[in-house]
Amino acid sequence: MTERRILVTAALPYANGHIHIGHLVEYIQTDIWVRFQKLQGHRCLFICADDTHGTAIMIRARREGRSEEQVIADMREAHIRDFAGFQIEFDNYGSTNSPENRALCHEIWSSIRKAGLVREKNVEQLFDPVAGTFLADRFVRGTCPKCGATDQPGDNCSRCGAAYSPADLIDPKSTLSGVTPEVRSAPHLFIELEQLHSFLNDWSQDGTHLQPEVANYLKGHFLCDVLRDWDVSRPAPYFGFEIPDCPGNYWYVWFDAPIGYMGSTREWCDRHGEDFDGWWRNPETEIHHFIGKDITYFHTLFWPGMLKTAGFNLPKKVHIHGFLTVGGEKMSKSKGTFVTAATFVKSLDPAALRYYYASKLGPGLDDIDLNLEEFIAKVNSDLVGKVVNLASRCARFVAGQTLPEVYPEDGGLFEFAASKAELLAASYEQCNFAAAMREIMLLADRANRFVDEKQPWVLRKQAGAEAELRDVCTITLNLFRQIVIYLAPVLPRLAQQTGELLNAPIRHWNESQSPLTGTLVGEFQHLMKRIEETQVQAMIEESKQEAAAEVVAGAAIPAEPTGPQFHAADTWKDSGNALSSEPLAGECTIDDFVKVDLRVARVIEAAHVAGADKLLQLTLSLGGGETRNVFAGIKAAYKPEDLIGRLVICVANLKPRQMKFGLSQGMVCASGSGGKEVFLLSPDAGSVPGQRVH
Ligand code: MSP
Ligand code: ZN
Repeated sequence: MTERRILVTAALPYANGHIHIGHLVEYIQTDIWVRFQKLQGHRCLFICADDTHGTAIMIRARREGRSEEQVIADMREAHIRDFAGFQIEFDNYGSTNSPENRALCHEIWSSIRKAGLVREKNVEQLFDPVAGTFLADRFVRGTCPKCGATDQPGDNCSRCGAAYSPADLIDPKSTLSGVTPEVRSAPHLFIELEQLHSFLNDWSQDGTHLQPEVANYLKGHFLCDVLRDWDVSRPAPYFGFEIPDCPGNYWYVWFDAPIGYMGSTREWCDRHGEDFDGWWRNPETEIHHFIGKDITYFHTLFWPGMLKTAGFNLPKKVHIHGFLTVGGEKMSKSKGTFVTAATFVKSLDPAALRYYYASKLGPGLDDIDLNLEEFIAKVNSDLVGKVVNLASRCARFVAGQTLPEVYPEDGGLFEFAASKAELLAASYEQCNFAAAMREIMLLADRANRFVDEKQPWVLRKQAGAEAELRDVCTITLNLFRQIVIYLAPVLPRLAQQTGELLNAPIRHWNESQSPLTGTLVGEFQHLMKRIEETQVQAMIEESKQEAAAEVVAGAAIPAEPTGPQFHAADTWKDSGNALSSEPLAGECTIDDFVKVDLRVARVIEAAHVAGADKLLQLTLSLGGGETRNVFAGIKAAYKPEDLIGRLVICVANLKPRQMKFGLSQGMVCASGSGGKEVFLLSPDAGSVPGQRVH
């Protein structure tokens, strides 16, 4: 096999917050892929850095009365410690606030200028005269110009969903100082992305660089239209790099952040006497970026455009993953499911999370759910019960002995598992770790059946069975080691301990192809413990307490926005079983349909119903003072406070029904199978209560 030259990056975490289990999906995924490539004998560099610039850091520094440099230095230390705790091993961990990155920003900027892509335009923005800074949308709140809801964010209303610009807000207030901001105009520099349209179309749609659903999303949302100019400058004050040919203006954080991949590579090159262009301007080098779906836009349009213009390698592949949910919901501080890396390692073994994520990660963009019961069960049954158990049932019978020079007859077990190497390698290469884990556990099942049959603990007590016992243990330890080689990218510590146990460090994937013979077996050390439910509870409890302490310390500073969002629906990959599980009803006429009077209604009150575990009581306004009292079976899916103010569709002429809890005067329309799987219908923005649905 020819040696590949691969440069891998994971997204650069913001320096304004700690690493949490959501981030870890990405860093564990990337680390597994990198370790797999290294185990294959390829030259592979894993590059990352802290993303340090932008408004959030500037505001945090002001609030804490420290310099930005101090803030980012502390966070860097914490990030490095957190990653090390999860055995995430970068070849270089840099910072976007480095001289290397600044120099590369200058170089790329001058190429973009030379290519004639930069244009100056005036931008009107709200300015906080007390804080002395322009306000990004997320630092302004006010009354929605559409529905009158108070305390709404600067870009869209959380009650009626209307989108607007912060200047349209009624009575806007800066969240930094509380004063009313003024509208000020300032020149900004824009990159005319449209000039790169045909290149971006070719690059993104050629079927090799992006997952198909990502290519479709870009085509359907951006490439089908004129590409909008990208605002890449911010006027002072801003924590970042000043633009050399535009004093008093700074590159927007999303300009210098991806260049940080290169800045960090340059640090590594300087340390190792390597040629930077050999990695970034070399057709032999493959660049692979791993990112989450929220930052798709920046990595698949702007970034390739910048690289192309400046004559660097284009990414060979951008691997995009979904988001983490815990128990099917977004991570929640109040529920204790917003778990930081530091909190996790206090209660649990990081290897358990590495394995669990591996068992969940496929090649697509689906969200990954951390179900805590499943987590405990899977780790205990697979890792402890199947894998580690192989060693613990045999190693002690041959501790201190040398394994025979000739591998005993094992009925084809080792060879069978060896033949899976190619398939497993292909799964790793395609980021289908879930498939690899399933296949590896089947191998572990076979090996365990062998031990169950041979019963070494019985052989041990039989006179004259020494040779057989030694053969059984030799076979089992070899099957164990083979499995550990396949798992090594996921469980590096287990791989290392196994190397120590058998006096043969695991260095290459191909070591799975031949059994170890004549090696000295060491003392069996404990490899992995069962997870107890109490450990998980302790972690959740501690996360709750941290969140509570944070509330006391003051509001969080919103991070940089991540651009237009990738929604599952954008992939047009609707799961097709809903229709077959509930076939279409018989035909109806238009006259049948108009008998049902569907109206737009606003939820004006929502409350739990004493004694009813599925129902919420809703008061719906149909406009003009007309209301309906409705009991809806949506309690598992919605919180009353989240419903108040939203629009729904109601059956307004349904015959009232007397229920145990009161009179129900209609029905709200929803899809789904019930329980948590209930999705209320709502009309598009612009419709008003009372309107009939035709
Ligand atoms: N600083 C930017 C990236 C710049 S790359 C040139 C950023 N930072 S981040 O800290 O918010 O996120 C870092 C990575 O973690 C992103 O790829 C993001 O998608 C991923 N995740 C953050 N929260 C996540 C989950 N809850 N679940 C899965 N991945 C998540 O974005
Ligand atoms: Zn509104």
